[in-house]
Amino acid sequence: MHKVVKYGNIKVSYLSCLEGGGRNFGQEFIRVVKDRFGKVSHIFEYCAGPGFIGFSLLAHGLCNRLTVADINPDAVECCKKTIKDNNLENKAVVYLSDCLDSIPQTERWDLVVSNPPHWPSDENKYRDNIRNFDPCLIIHKKFYRDVKKFLKLGGQILFQECELATTIKDFQPMIEDNGLEIREVFKAKPLSFLQCILKFKKISKYTKPSAFYFICMQQISNKQ
Ligand SMILES: C[S@@+](CC[C@H](N)C(=O)[O-])C[C@H]1O[C@@H](n2cnc3c(N)ncnc32)[C@H](O)[C@@H]1O
Repeated sequence: MHKVVKYGNIKVSYLSCLEGGGRNFGQEFIRVVKDRFGKVSHIFEYCAGPGFIGFSLLAHGLCNRLTVADINPDAVECCKKTIKDNNLENKAVVYLSDCLDSIPQTERWDLVVSNPPHWPSDENKYRDNIRNFDPCLIIHKKFYRDVKKFLKLGGQILFQECELATTIKDFQPMIEDNGLEIREVFKAKPLSFLQCILKFKKISKYTKPSAFYFICMQQISNKQ
């Protein structure tokens, strides 16, 4: 049975089994995008699940168009339902895609956001839990290898990672070897304890916003 969370005028459909943090710490993207980028034309959410982050950015007026994609057909069905229920057909589109493999060549983005699987693992762990694990960081590696062809000139990327799982050193080579530049690594301005309780209700060390850091990247060369 679908659940619903409302961001502005958009009702986002989801299943509990698809939640990957976008409904709680992932909402930090709203403040961060507002402060650092302002409104952009077209946002893509990678590893979107039900699109908590992307649809919330759209609802907060931070983009005109939204593309979301995920490998899980159930997540894609939720996104389709959200698009249909909110009459977003002319503003949002969803793709079923392993990494960026099935994204149409015509897609062009100003900003890519993602709360991807955070924990490096082996294949077995990934097969058991595709929300949390990234086998040998292949989901990150393939993204950084392929994203440039979808970025508009000057396009930027903003990933939210978990400091209990990785550091910037895990990603630096795969980012820089693919013609992207790390502009900033930072944590969102912390909320007070009371704000956290009110905003996120249930907090564990794995979901408290202070456990997460943002990496902001930009394209610097034409290297493929
Ligand atoms: C940490 S969850 C984040 C979900 C959602 N963005 C959120 O914040 O709640 C990671 C997401 O990555 C997706 N995923 C895992 N492997 C993938 C792959 N190879 N290609 C695309 N998406 C993938 C999972 O299905 C899951 O929805």
